[in-house]
Amino acid sequence: MTKQKTYKIALIGGDGTGPEVAREGVKVMKTAAAKFGFKLDFTDYDFGGTRYLKTGEILPDSAIEEVKKHHAIYLGAIGHPDVKPGILEVGILLKLRFALDQYINLRPVKLYPGVETPLKNKKSEDIDFVVVRENTGGIYTSIGGVVQKGTQNEIATQVMVYSRPVVDRCMRYAYELTRKRNSRKKMLTLVHKSNVLTYCGDLWVRAHKEMGDRDYPDIKQDYNHVDACTMWFVKQPEWYDVIVTENLFGDIITDLAAIIQGGLGIAAGGNINPEGVSMFEPMGGSAPKYTGKNVINPLAAICAGGMMLDTLGEEKAAKAIDKAVTDLLASGKIKSLAAGKMGYSTTEVGDLVASAV
Ligand code: IPM
Ligand code: MN
Repeated sequence: MTKQKTYKIALIGGDGTGPEVAREGVKVMKTAAAKFGFKLDFTDYDFGGTRYLKTGEILPDSAIEEVKKHHAIYLGAIGHPDVKPGILEVGILLKLRFALDQYINLRPVKLYPGVETPLKNKKSEDIDFVVVRENTGGIYTSIGGVVQKGTQNEIATQVMVYSRPVVDRCMRYAYELTRKRNSRKKMLTLVHKSNVLTYCGDLWVRAHKEMGDRDYPDIKQDYNHVDACTMWFVKQPEWYDVIVTENLFGDIITDLAAIIQGGLGIAAGGNINPEGVSMFEPMGGSAPKYTGKNVINPLAAICAGGMMLDTLGEEKAAKAIDKAVTDLLASGKIKSLAAGKMGYSTTEVGDLVASAV
């Protein structure tokens, strides 16, 4: 018998309901692994608010070296009501993104059949696109400063920083993904604000055009200013196939995208280093008030697990998970994606998806 391929996964359940949703994701992924002939070996890490409050430690450098030895990271949620906002987000999420150079933030935006969208008259086939957000540069580089702090004349700067290589590697990923998706549109929309950001915007516009003209003649090039893009998300989401954008604009439009696909109960994302260790997570927070009640919706975490398997190269397993989620939602069994209103418990939803896989 040939030895089965084994993937080592660092599991950070995190805070609040994070561990509960992650558990269901692990359950579904393990079921898929058994079916498609590979193994998943999870190692638990307890980073998050609880550990920080107990030990004062957020994410030591030694932990980064440890997680680097894994094939991927699977994250539940980070955020604790007794920890000042920002500390854990910067100390865990952003630190991992930078340390592991996860330069792509991948956000599939799909309205599953049977899921309610706040957009009037939009159906499942109208909302199906992917946002490729640059994930380490721009304003998140955190170059800037403040002078005369606290005075009437205080000045603060936070600079949008982009180099051509950093734009190009993101653009390359987005073009390749557009080609691989091979949708009817085969179109890569650049979202920026080139009418005002005449340096950074222009850099992105040229990178988009030059790479597209040279290497991707089969892919249509499209451009939206970011402000207009927010209107089109609401009015005509069916326009989009793949979107590529810089970090902060991507942060903002992916939250809007999450709500049109049914909200945080279903939105999943990946922080990807195509040559390194990537991290997958549901977009929702730690939802402290639902902790331990077995009522939180695990579907976003399950979808994040599917994305992880896809990125690891287990495309069949990923497709099976996506199909199981699609069929379950289309069946109308799940009454709502909101916590406590699903008609099932967290573990039952995990079981339903796992058995469908
Ligand atoms: C996200 C989050 C993070 C970001 C925060 C928590 C630092 O909003 O993943 O979109 O701004 O990137
Ligand atoms: Mn965000």
